[in-house]
Amino acid sequence: MQVVKTVTEMRKLRRQLNEPVGFVPTMGYFHEGHLSLVRQARKENSTVVVSIFVNPTQFGPGEDFQDYPRDLERDLELLEREKVDIVFVPSEEEMYPSGFSSWIDVEGVTERLEGASRLEHFRGVITVCAKLFNIIQPTRAYFGQKDAQQAVVIKKMVADLSMNLEITVVSTIRESDGLAMSSRNTYLNPEERQAAIVLFRALSLARELWQGGEKDADKIRHEMTSLIQKEPLARIDYVSIADANTLEELKAINRPALASLAVRIGKTRLIDNVLLKGGK
Ligand code: PAF
Repeated sequence: MQVVKTVTEMRKLRRQLNEPVGFVPTMGYFHEGHLSLVRQARKENSTVVVSIFVNPTQFGPGEDFQDYPRDLERDLELLEREKVDIVFVPSEEEMYPSGFSSWIDVEGVTERLEGASRLEHFRGVITVCAKLFNIIQPTRAYFGQKDAQQAVVIKKMVADLSMNLEITVVSTIRESDGLAMSSRNTYLNPEERQAAIVLFRALSLARELWQGGEKDADKIRHEMTSLIQKEPLARIDYVSIADANTLEELKAINRPALASLAVRIGKTRLIDNVLLKGGK
């Protein structure tokens, strides 16, 4: 496994890689969710490249950029075990040299859900992903369903800007009690960790109601909200039943939908979602 730190070195190496090249962009501090992306990339490609970069431009003022958990040594050990070929670990200066002033915006889908309260978040995510795609030129890139809106936004950018790669979205990996794996779960104390199950319980309720034939999105949002409000440590940011592609809120669930939510447990903001589509 080669660890590469500069864009110049990465570009040089890229010319020699066996095709197809699978790419997993990450901010490190790996859990099983990240590793499931890496494993799928390993299965489907001759070469696997993983990037580790805690991207400052996707964190808003007052968010957890400084505190975001980091453990490069452990991450590299885990990637070595997964037989990753190349790890791209650029510095902040390498990605955003002084004078950097070019950004990519995707309108519409970025303005709802996460985008409504985290104003510049998606501009940062989209721009760094576009840069990474340009540097690594992957055949396929892998994203988690856990960050459903991020996956929708990246797919839209790739389609709108005719980028030459395929985006694969991999199912959410959960703890045994249903909590979606996330690097931010490490912020939870034991009492908060227990309370955090309420996100999955609310999403499971949404799925049960929908599977039972409920099509009224307001009713489902209302039932989810009531359930979460019973948990004293939880504060709702949003509860959404939206079109799975445009992320516009639905009145009736008459097409593939995404049930998603953002909830603060103590000081930690957690997000999760389930798809309401297909064979129920
Ligand atoms: O999902 C993440 O970890 C980040 O948003 C990503 C895609 C690596 C961009 O910084």
